[in-house]
Amino acid sequence: MRTVAVVLAGGIGQRVGAGRPKQLVEVGGRPILAHAVEAFDAHPGVDAVVVVMAAGHLRAAAAIAAPFGKVAAVIEGGDTRTASTVAALRALDGEAGDARVLFHDAARPFVDAAVIGRVLDALTGAEAVAVGLPSADTIVEVRDGVVVAMPPRDSLARFQTPQGFRLGTLRRAYELALADPALRATDDCGIVHRYLPDVPIRVVAGSERNLKVTHPLDVVVAEHLAAAPEHPE
Ligand code: CTP
Ligand code: MG
Repeated sequence: MRTVAVVLAGGIGQRVGAGRPKQLVEVGGRPILAHAVEAFDAHPGVDAVVVVMAAGHLRAAAAIAAPFGKVAAVIEGGDTRTASTVAALRALDGEAGDARVLFHDAARPFVDAAVIGRVLDALTGAEAVAVGLPSADTIVEVRDGVVVAMPPRDSLARFQTPQGFRLGTLRRAYELALADPALRATDDCGIVHRYLPDVPIRVVAGSERNLKVTHPLDVVVAEHLAAAPEHPE
């Protein structure tokens, strides 16, 4: 059974506002994208890596990916994360339905082998696997500036990536999603949850280091994390 990791780098990083996609920003002396690709390239459970890059930056991505032997393709993404996932699924047309596929945000440079291993292990007995962590903050539902629900914190999790799937299951979910004129952008577990509600999504533990570089402050934090690989979580 093959395992393919897709590194989603199709965004432009508007919130970080670096003047170029945030995955090209260097932390610890290397682009964020290089860190993310390396984690999967180095993992013994991963056979191939596909990089999905923002239009106009394919050459930069190809140069970053070149040293990594498992990178099978660098392809152009779409306008939304969902469209970038669809582009990746098309690139995986030749893979068998029982292949394991991992979708990872390129903006998470510090995903480690333990997290990837937990997702792969869980895919032995599950069709869909997410990575989650408890929230330190209380999370409430707010509408028009007023709290409308306060779900108990111990039932809530923050999702990270990679999200893992049996390829055939994800294909089925996307077939239904793409036929739905009301499809709203969401992550891949969101697509499975909505269109294949009978498929349980197993949640395994993530890591605090596996942060997503989203705002300018996260670049500063990532730079510190790059300098302190053994820093306690
Ligand atoms: N992504 C993608 N294709 C898109 C949009 C996002 O592959 N059209 C990827 C991003 O490159 C990132 C991940 O999905 O690795 C998570 O998205 P996000 O953090 O929102 O990144 P950006 O969309 O680049 O950032 P912003 O929303 O601030 O513009
Ligand atoms: Mg975005």
